[in-house]
Amino acid sequence: MNVGVLVSGRGTNLQALIDRGRKGELGPARLTVVGGNVLDCPGIARARAAGLPTFVVDHRDYSARAGFDRALVSALRSHQIDLVVLAGFMRVLGEDFLGSFPDRVINIHPALLPAFGGVHAQRQALEAGVKITGCSVHFVDAGVDTGPVIAQSAVLVHEDDDEESLSARILAEEHRLLPAAVRAIAERRVVIENRRVRVLGESITGDVLRSL
Ligand code: GRF
Repeated sequence: MNVGVLVSGRGTNLQALIDRGRKGELGPARLTVVGGNVLDCPGIARARAAGLPTFVVDHRDYSARAGFDRALVSALRSHQIDLVVLAGFMRVLGEDFLGSFPDRVINIHPALLPAFGGVHAQRQALEAGVKITGCSVHFVDAGVDTGPVIAQSAVLVHEDDDEESLSARILAEEHRLLPAAVRAIAERRVVIENRRVRVLGESITGDVLRSL
């Protein structure tokens, strides 16, 4: 299964995928190309350093989302991509993109969806005063962080947490959960039944005890 990863920023989730792939821990998934919308972002640099092909489609070159979407689709298709992983990709994708990869676009989000979608999820969790938050991998639909959840991992909120410390604790779980989800999809163990996604075989959902 050829996997294309889209990034906009620092790319630590991409790095986790690269590292797991090198250890042979992504099963039949093969990182094939990394794309982004920001030319000199660290994520693209990480991909280059790993010897992966890269492409950049700058959203500012397009007056409408459809054109941007189509340019991304054609770049991914030229690498025969089967699965698209959004790993800190900060643009909302429209129908032109999602219709080209039905049920084949996933995203990692730093909260237990459907709580705290959108930006600054960790800050939202702190402001809401929740005691447990975490991260979610989900299929991408036309909304923002609204698609069917594939796997989640819980993280405790400590009394003295600030946004930085909480984000770091969640990020460590992201780096475990995203590669595990990619592997499960590539192993064809992930089945979508309307909004409910079943992961067959070994569970990939995290345990809150892991972060105590
Ligand atoms: C992660 O927190 C991810 O959950 C969110 O964006 C951040 C990306 O971080 N969607 P990185 O670029 O993978 O380091």
